[in-house]
Amino acid sequence: MALEKPYLDVPGTTIFDADQSRKGYWLNQFCMSLMKAENRERFKADEDAYLAEWPMTDEQKAAVRARDLNWAMRTGGNIYFLAKLGATDGLSFQQMAGSMTGMSEQQYRDMMIAGGRSPEGNRVVGEGGDAQGPASQTAAWKAWQEETAQKQLAAKVESAQAAPKTAAQGHARITASVYSSHVPAIGAAIDMGKTEEPYWVPLFKGFEPSKQWMKDNRPDVVFLVYNDHATSFDLGVIPTFAIGTAAEFEPADEGYGPRPVPKVKGHPELASHIAQSVIQQDFDLTIVNDLKVDHGLTVPMNLMFGSPDAWPVQVIPFHVNVVQYPVPSGQRCFALGQAIRRAIESYDQPLNVQIWGTGGMSHQLQGPRAGLINKDWDNRFLDRLIAEPAELAKVSHIEYVREAGSEGIELVMWLIARGAMADVAGGKPPKLVHRFFHVPASNTAVGHLILENTL
Ligand code: DHB
Ligand code: FE
Repeated sequence: MALEKPYLDVPGTTIFDADQSRKGYWLNQFCMSLMKAENRERFKADEDAYLAEWPMTDEQKAAVRARDLNWAMRTGGNIYFLAKLGATDGLSFQQMAGSMTGMSEQQYRDMMIAGGRSPEGNRVVGEGGDAQGPASQTAAWKAWQEETAQKQLAAKVESAQAAPKTAAQGHARITASVYSSHVPAIGAAIDMGKTEEPYWVPLFKGFEPSKQWMKDNRPDVVFLVYNDHATSFDLGVIPTFAIGTAAEFEPADEGYGPRPVPKVKGHPELASHIAQSVIQQDFDLTIVNDLKVDHGLTVPMNLMFGSPDAWPVQVIPFHVNVVQYPVPSGQRCFALGQAIRRAIESYDQPLNVQIWGTGGMSHQLQGPRAGLINKDWDNRFLDRLIAEPAELAKVSHIEYVREAGSEGIELVMWLIARGAMADVAGGKPPKLVHRFFHVPASNTAVGHLILENTL
């Protein structure tokens, strides 16, 4: 059980939550495709051929063919998406809504003119109002149910006979936080086999202890805070905080071709739980089901895991806007880390979770001031991140810019990871496992820390 669902007993109502969204992903994306006139034409000319292009379930396709919106919603459809199908057929919203009620078009219109449906008796299942009956069904849905009833019965018998699963005990725990710069040139050095060159040797040497530590302390899931660098998010939409809830994230093509690294496997259930918990703690996250990950995420993965054929952990990508101002403050990031901690530790599976903060340290990639490095400020940042993160969180944007360069602002992301550590919630101070600092990698001062929570 991941998501809290206090809405399940509202009669005649399906709330479009993360579970429904996952179930209905391709059905809803198919509906979206009908916003293009040429796709509507192709769909109308040959529905089966058009539907064959979409990885929807057979049931979803059958629901679309039957134009049974209750059925489509049962399979994960959302009304705003399904409305594109209705619009393709020339239906109004009133006709679509009415079609789900079991009333005739005229009856439904008359009910609306008479003031609409009353909530009386329709707030909770079993109250006896006029929306308490079963969902209206097309003949096609009934036939489908009869056909599948036998199969479902057989499956139920089979699963009841299977050895009862012992429910996993406990809850998820944040065991450690990792901080690392994410310079794209590091990825290029790995991809082009240049890690033995004198320029790169000291840098990769600094991460050798980390790779060994990672072998001994491999988590199930990494909650990876990074920033998208004008890769998945262009200037069309700029989310301040965005959580990747997909099952898989492909490495992005940032202009040089996609990096030859494995696909990143997500953890949709934990990500959806975190989204729900953190949003309910009043942080407005953007939920991203379709995300390509750039060097901000893949370079730290290489630094910590080397270059395996498949990444040995699941990853929840968490993007922070540090490209266009206004960017979130250090204090906001630090508080968000605390909310993320509460979210992760309330997940009822015994997962070992690490939280990583990436980007930084001092660097400026633009203008006559490009190349700025501030070793003293960076090292003081590392000291304070370890020992007095709440104070460090008060540092203003302008100080990051003046002291650490315009792109040094990436360091606010480290405060999210630090805010999620146990000591911030009243626990013991973390153990410093590893600290490394090196100049330069490309234009950047590379910083790296591993902090373990102690029991
Ligand atoms: C560099 C560093 C970054 O963090 C980044 O996102 C892009 C480039 C660099 O030093 O070249
Ligand atoms: Fe960056």
